Amino acid sequence: MEFDETESGESRYLMSTYSRPGDMILVSGDGCELTDHRGRTYLDCMSGIAVMALGHSDPEWVATVAAEAGRLVHVSNLYHSAPQVSLARELVERSFADKVFFCNSGTEANEAAFKLARKWAVNQGSADKTRVVAFEGGFHGRTIGALSMTHKPSIREPFEPLLEGVTFAPFNDAEAAQRAIDDKTAAVFVEPLQGEGGVRPVDPAFLKRVAELCRRHRALLVFDEVQCGLGRTGTLFAHEQLGVTPDLMTLAKPLAGGLPIGALLATEEVAMAFGPGDHGSTFAGGPLVCRAAEVVLRRLTPEFLAEVRALGDQLRESLEALKHPAIVEVRGLGLLVGVELDRPVAPVVEAARRRGLLVIPAGEQVVRFAPPLIISRAALLRAVRLFDESLAAADERSE
Ligand SMILES: Cc1ncc(COP(=O)(O)O)c(C=O)c1O
Repeated sequence: MEFDETESGESRYLMSTYSRPGDMILVSGDGCELTDHRGRTYLDCMSGIAVMALGHSDPEWVATVAAEAGRLVHVSNLYHSAPQVSLARELVERSFADKVFFCNSGTEANEAAFKLARKWAVNQGSADKTRVVAFEGGFHGRTIGALSMTHKPSIREPFEPLLEGVTFAPFNDAEAAQRAIDDKTAAVFVEPLQGEGGVRPVDPAFLKRVAELCRRHRALLVFDEVQCGLGRTGTLFAHEQLGVTPDLMTLAKPLAGGLPIGALLATEEVAMAFGPGDHGSTFAGGPLVCRAAEVVLRRLTPEFLAEVRALGDQLRESLEALKHPAIVEVRGLGLLVGVELDRPVAPVVEAARRRGLLVIPAGEQVVRFAPPLIISRAALLRAVRLFDESLAAADERSE
């Protein structure tokens, strides 16, 4: 299909839930490079929103998926599945968790966590222990349950009334958390590094206080590591750098190297609240997607993660060295880095795209860098140079 046909077909056949740049259809990818329909290339510093950790067309991943596609793609969850068990074992052996439930996205993982927390809390013997605390700036997904815990008013309000019983507390404010969490709280959902909300790291002292409050009120601590987990911050899970362990954790984006998957990880005590029939999914945890995820997990070795930390330091330092007056702050962990500007970032993101650099906003005033974790130092330097030029170009356009 040619470009014009795609563009006009899009407005004719697709619901318009996304706004997309007008002159580009991406047609192939190799490592950190994407190519569009006219043969123009782009340095990918957004990884399909923090998904393509191994980059595009990784040979081992491609070979595994091709082989599995020819063997067994899907059988449903009504039968045993060896790939599902070996992926779950790998996740359990490398985390705090004892049990895993597979689903198809980050949103679904948070829905599953919400349901499990409700069932666990009611099993504790108090029928009114149903409330959830979430934080301002937090993003947990777009279905009614997950959206009820997502803070951004512009995406919540058109769909109200949402679920009752969710309290939003200011992020990184321990006193406010103390006021919000009580004996009626079933679960507290936190992103250890907020992604969509502007690449905002959690304050470790705040997180420790939240964990204490959860213990005191017998509420479950849920870490949403959908965006910051699985190597993105330079450790397998972001919370490993924070000295706090959750009862539940949700994962998704990079887990299967670009195929849809989500996972809810839980301690034994909490996981026991789910019994047969309590939750399910037709597609989740199929053989193909689980084998693909095993490739990704195998590659996230301690040496690989150390390199992600080093690359992240290099990226932050070279962004901090830029002298552009619009830059307010550079922050983040590993290869999830935000540059806050004193102005809307959309023109800068567009100027970057025109120069062959793909970065994305995280809110109105933050440019987010989330490159494939395999990116080279030279490519990061090129990204920072293109970003610097884009800041200048956006200035010129606004004058
Ligand atoms: C922290 C976090 N949780 C949940 C989600 C929702 O994940 P998905 O889009 O896979 O449903 C996202 C997506 O950006 C996210 O960043």
